[in-house]
Order: sequence, then C-alpha cells, then structure tokens
Amino acid sequence: MKKDKNSPIGIFDSGIGGLTVAHAIKKLLPNESMIYFGDTAHLPYGDKSEAAIQAYSIKIADVLLKKGCKVIVIACNSASSAAYELLKEYVHKDTFIINVIDPMVDLVLGEFEHKRVGLIGTKRTVQSGVYTRKIEEAKKGITISSLATPLLAPMIEEGFFNNQISHEIIAQYLADESLQNIDALILACTHYPLIKKEISAFYEDKMNILDSSEVIAQALQTYLTEADLINTSTTPSHQFLVSDYTESFEAAAKIFFHESVHLDKHPLWND
Ligand code: DGL
Repeated sequence: MKKDKNSPIGIFDSGIGGLTVAHAIKKLLPNESMIYFGDTAHLPYGDKSEAAIQAYSIKIADVLLKKGCKVIVIACNSASSAAYELLKEYVHKDTFIINVIDPMVDLVLGEFEHKRVGLIGTKRTVQSGVYTRKIEEAKKGITISSLATPLLAPMIEEGFFNNQISHEIIAQYLADESLQNIDALILACTHYPLIKKEISAFYEDKMNILDSSEVIAQALQTYLTEADLINTSTTPSHQFLVSDYTESFEAAAKIFFHESVHLDKHPLWND
C-alpha cells in the first residue's frame, strides 16, 4: 500500500499499556492518525519467551503494514527487547520502525555520564540485558542496576494504583538492595507512567524518574520530520484494535489514553 504524509502511524503493545505512548504521540503530533494494536489475547509479554514475542510481533507488524502505516512504533519494552532486530529486518523494505529502548538509551547517555542509574521493567526486558549492554557499551562510566518488577504491569492493568496495595508493592520493590544509591530510575515498561507519581513519592520527589513516553514521541517527530512525513493537512482519525476484547479492557484503555476509546476486536490468528 502506498504511504505518504497522510498515512497512519502504527503503534503496538502487549495490551493497553502502550496507550501511554500513544497519548504522548497525540499530544506532540496532533495531526497524525494512529492505528493502535494491543495484543490483549497474549498479555502479559513480560513472562513470555523471546520466540513467542517475536511470533506475535511479526503478526502484528503484518496487520499494521496491511493498513498502510508509514512507521511502526513498538510501544512495549518487552517486545522491543525481544523482537526489534527481527522486526527491523522483516519490515525494512516497507516501513521504518522505532523501539522504546534506543531513545531512552540516548537520553541516559546524554544526561547521566558517570552516574548510577536504576531500571525497573518486566522479566523479559530485564533478562534481555539490552539497556545495560547499550549503555555500558558507550563507555560513559554509567552503571545500570536493573530489577525485574513483574507484579507491577498486572497490578496496573487491574486498576490497582494510587492505593494502599500499590504503595506497598512499589515500596517493596524500590527498597530492593539493587536500587539503592541511584541518581535516576528508568521506567522500562510502558505501563509504569501510570504509577510515576507513586514512585516519585517513594523518593520524596527527589529522584529523576525517566519515563519513555515523551522521548519516544520526540524520536518519532524527529524521524517524521527528516523523512518529510509529518501530516499537516488532514483531520486525524484513530483506530484501536485488540486481539481479544473485554469491557474491562475498554474501561482501562480510557485510563491509559486519558480519554474514551472504542476497541475493535482483531484476532491475530483465526483460532
Ligand atoms: N507494556 C509492556 C512493556 O513495556 C509490559 C507489559 C507486559 O508484560 O505485557 O514491557
């Protein structure tokens, strides 16, 4: 399908967490149309194997390519760490692809030389070691200390945040030895912007909490500008697809996207 300035931006995540990224994109690039795919049938990705996430990601890329997306944003750290390289190979003739990790790595390299930076994310993201590798390879004297926090994404999906249970789970994780004496904390999961305030409160608002949604939107803006693909003329329209539908997803989507969204069911496999 022919792509031009009016073509939509494709965005995907394991579920609705990536809507935090979609929201940041909508704020920065209000003229762009978006097609969001949430793989709710296979959520969470954080405890899936690399091979499973790669298979889901390829299927989703096919859906977004068929719909003529001019760029694909992987709005999920777990999928970015497991499937970015493969997806790049797979789509490179048809479209450009942006992951959530590289823009955050660039930010850390630019601002935290010789510092100690903590990271929280899913098991898949932390076990991949991708942030550590990319940041330490640059030899800027930055130490990365990562902790898998697998309860956080399901907790947030269930609407448990800003309450006593979420405070306690967050506090338990952040008190872990590996996250002491850090100068900044990377939120390496697109669900976590929703608990950013609680995390910040744990540190009495004195910690640099690095949330990737805005840097991703900026990386996308840079790419679209350089490729001369910024949409300036049309009224944007957005489509939200999920591989499995329940009303609770639609209710939660509103919290992640800051406004009501209508989710359409679009199975990845006909099984
Ligand atoms: N939003 C996904 C991420 O950024 C995590 C949720 C999941 O485990 O599916 O890693």
